[in-house]
Amino acid sequence: MALKGVVLAGGMGSRLFPLTKVTNKHLLPIYDEPMVYYPIRALVEAGIRDIMVVTGGESAGDFLKLLGNGKAFGLDHLEYGYQEGAGGIAEALGLTRYFVGSDPMVVVLGDNILEKPIDGAVRRFRNQGGGARILLKRVPDPGRFGVADLREGRVVGIEEKPKNPRSDLAVIGVYMYDNSVYEIVDGLDRSARGELEITDVNNAYLRRGELHAEEIEGWWTDAGTFESLWHAAQLVHAQKTRKAGGKEG
Ligand code: G1P
Repeated sequence: MALKGVVLAGGMGSRLFPLTKVTNKHLLPIYDEPMVYYPIRALVEAGIRDIMVVTGGESAGDFLKLLGNGKAFGLDHLEYGYQEGAGGIAEALGLTRYFVGSDPMVVVLGDNILEKPIDGAVRRFRNQGGGARILLKRVPDPGRFGVADLREGRVVGIEEKPKNPRSDLAVIGVYMYDNSVYEIVDGLDRSARGELEITDVNNAYLRRGELHAEEIEGWWTDAGTFESLWHAAQLVHAQKTRKAGGKEG
């Protein structure tokens, strides 16, 4: 079965207003490239050539102008979807079901940027035979994210933006799911903020005993706030100039 790639690039980008008043957050620059390039490349580097981008809000048409048919990334196929309103990440994922069909998928949030390729984790997902795999990273400010609660090295729960985080392990925006994710999404209730939460999807897999988790190496950041957008640009700048200087392969 071919692994499909999904980039979720919707939302209102309200935390970045007025930068997002006339454009979509994922079209903003991270140093020298538009934000959405980074999650697409993360999928391509993991060997995925069949990708759907779900956008929403402002400037959806600009994604087509920017990405075209995906040839510049070496894609076999690039599909587009449109999410109306701000119904949450899991709702956006639900819009990919006709594209993904019966295949498993790797989902990357459009504002997540990683230092290192995710090919190893994707390989382990392929080999685990169904279920879900999430990636974790220790952060100084876990309350901004989904936070994993671990007992004896196993995830026993995930809390979305907890006031009192039980660990410093953020659930990053890279999720690997088998096809039962759509039936899970269909069964979700909206959260207090009116959204279908990706954390509820992951907890559903956990309750089924089908959630695998691993910590990633290298830096990771989101870019959905002024601070993290700025930080992401600095990290990418440092990495790219180091590479250009020939000190790293
Ligand atoms: C979302 C998820 C959160 C996850 C984060 C990663 O948060 O809800 O669980 O840790 O992405 O970037 P958001 O950025 O939508 O606030």
